Amino acid sequence: MRWPADDTLWAMSKINPAMGFQPVLERVLISEEQLQTRVAEIAAQISNDYAGKDLLLICILRGGVVFLTDLMRKITIPHHIDFMAVTSYGVGARETSGKPRIMLDLNTDIRGRSVLLVEDIVDSGITLDHVLRLLQTREPASLDVCVLLDKKDRRQVEIPTTYVGFRIPNEYVFGYGLDVDEVFRNLPFIGILKAEYQ
Ligand code: IMP
Ligand code: MG
Repeated sequence: MRWPADDTLWAMSKINPAMGFQPVLERVLISEEQLQTRVAEIAAQISNDYAGKDLLLICILRGGVVFLTDLMRKITIPHHIDFMAVTSYGVGARETSGKPRIMLDLNTDIRGRSVLLVEDIVDSGITLDHVLRLLQTREPASLDVCVLLDKKDRRQVEIPTTYVGFRIPNEYVFGYGLDVDEVFRNLPFIGILKAEYQ
C-alpha cells in the first residue's frame, strides 16, 4: 500500500502508517481516561468563568480539533465555535519552521466578544503568539488561551495560558489530535514518539 498517495510526502516521512501506531509508540503518556477527566474539569471551569458572556471558542486546525469537540460537548453554557488553520511543521519535521502562516481565517467578527482560543499544544509559543497578535487587532472583549498540553521547557515566546490540561516533558507526542507526519490524530490517548522517529 502506498501512503500517503503523494510520493513526495511519503519520501520525507520515516514512519509507515500502514503498520499502525505500535511500532512508533515509546509509551502512553496520558491515558484516555486521564484526558477525559481533565477535559471535563476544564469544561466545568470554562462554563463557570464565562457564564453570561458571549463565548466564542476558536479552534486552531488541525491539531486542536479533537480537544475542541470533546471540550465543547462538556461545556454547559451557550457558545459559538469557529476555526482557523495555521501552518505547522510539515512532514518529517518535528519543530516549528518559525514562520506560521494563516491558511484559513475566521468567518466570525470577534469585536466585543469573549474569545477563547482552543489549541492542542504550546511548544515554542511562536504559533500562538502569531495568532494572538492577529486576533488582538480585531478588538475582542477578552482573548484567552485554553491549551491541552504545555511543553514549557521549549518556550521561546511567553504565552499567557488561562487553561492548561497537562504540563508535559520535552518529547514529541502524538494522538488525541496531534499527528506524526499527519497520521495517528485519531488515537484516544497521548503517546510519546520513539526517539528514532523524533
Ligand atoms: P509552537 O509554535 O512551537 O508552539 O508549536 C505549536 C504547534 O506545533 C502545535 O499547534 C502543534 O500543531 C505542533 N506541535 C508542537 N509540539 C508537538 C508535538 O509534540 N506533537 C505534535 N505536534 C506538535
Ligand atoms: Mg496545532
